Amino acid sequence: MKKRDFLTIRDFTPTEIAALLERAAEFKSGMTSGDKPLFGKSVGMLFYKTSTRTRISFEVGIYQLGGQPLYITQGQSQLSRGEPIADTARVFSRYLSGIVIRTFEHNIAAEFAAYSSVPVINGLTDTHHPCQIIADLMTIKEKKGRLEGIKIAYIGDGNNVANSLIEGALQMGMDLAVASPEGYEPSPGILKDAASRITVVTDPKDAAAGADCLYTDVWISMGDKEEEIADKQSKFAAYQINGKLLSYAKPDCTVLHCLPAHRGQEITDAVIEGPNSAVFDQAENRLHTQKAVLEMLIK
Ligand code: CP
Ligand code: NVA
Repeated sequence: MKKRDFLTIRDFTPTEIAALLERAAEFKSGMTSGDKPLFGKSVGMLFYKTSTRTRISFEVGIYQLGGQPLYITQGQSQLSRGEPIADTARVFSRYLSGIVIRTFEHNIAAEFAAYSSVPVINGLTDTHHPCQIIADLMTIKEKKGRLEGIKIAYIGDGNNVANSLIEGALQMGMDLAVASPEGYEPSPGILKDAASRITVVTDPKDAAAGADCLYTDVWISMGDKEEEIADKQSKFAAYQINGKLLSYAKPDCTVLHCLPAHRGQEITDAVIEGPNSAVFDQAENRLHTQKAVLEMLIK
């Protein structure tokens, strides 16, 4: 059977995403604690960037499914001494049953997957963060009871999280308004395929009006270039989720943030600690959804 990768949200159909969310809910309920689909299997986790949630949730998830997680940094592997990705991927495939990769350019993950004979799961690239969005969809479904027709407002940088959120919203029939400063909109390649239910605006109030969910991410991402960081400091000040912006959304609006958060920048302390915030449920759901993804892909 041909191996399958999970590099972007589009690698799963809406039906498969719905099945993943159901399975993740079963994992969360504890009813599957005896299921060990990864028994006797080792899963590599190749990280070029730092991580708290992705690393821990995958390591714990692989262990809970009966497998062995192997955390490997780019710096501690021969990749740092110039061993080609193509060789590394083929060698990894001889030992491992699956690979999670967190890296910079999306092409690195794509090349790794092209040369790997076992499933490759994207644990974040500069332009996509699909595992995050599966957990976010689970969180929204838990809080709102459904996904279809839910209105999300994403405020801030049109980065990896925003790109994957657009793809997730499109797959699951949700409305998404993205408010980003000029020059920091989501990737044109992703927007070009977006249906009318995805809108991009510059005023955060326009996006937040009547929203069921408000979502933000850091202004500065891992891998941002020095010159971009300086430019962002001045352009992002108005793109903060605070009490005022929250007042434009529905009263029961769910506030999401993939974390790590910078209180006082993209979100205020009062909002992230307030009654609308679901950020720690969202972080927990990384564990349950990643187990569902691992189980679906690794045979
Ligand atoms: N949200 C997320 O991916 O967090 P980490 O960078 O800590 O893995
Ligand atoms: N956009 C952020 C997400 C971190 C989980 C980054 O890439 O650093």
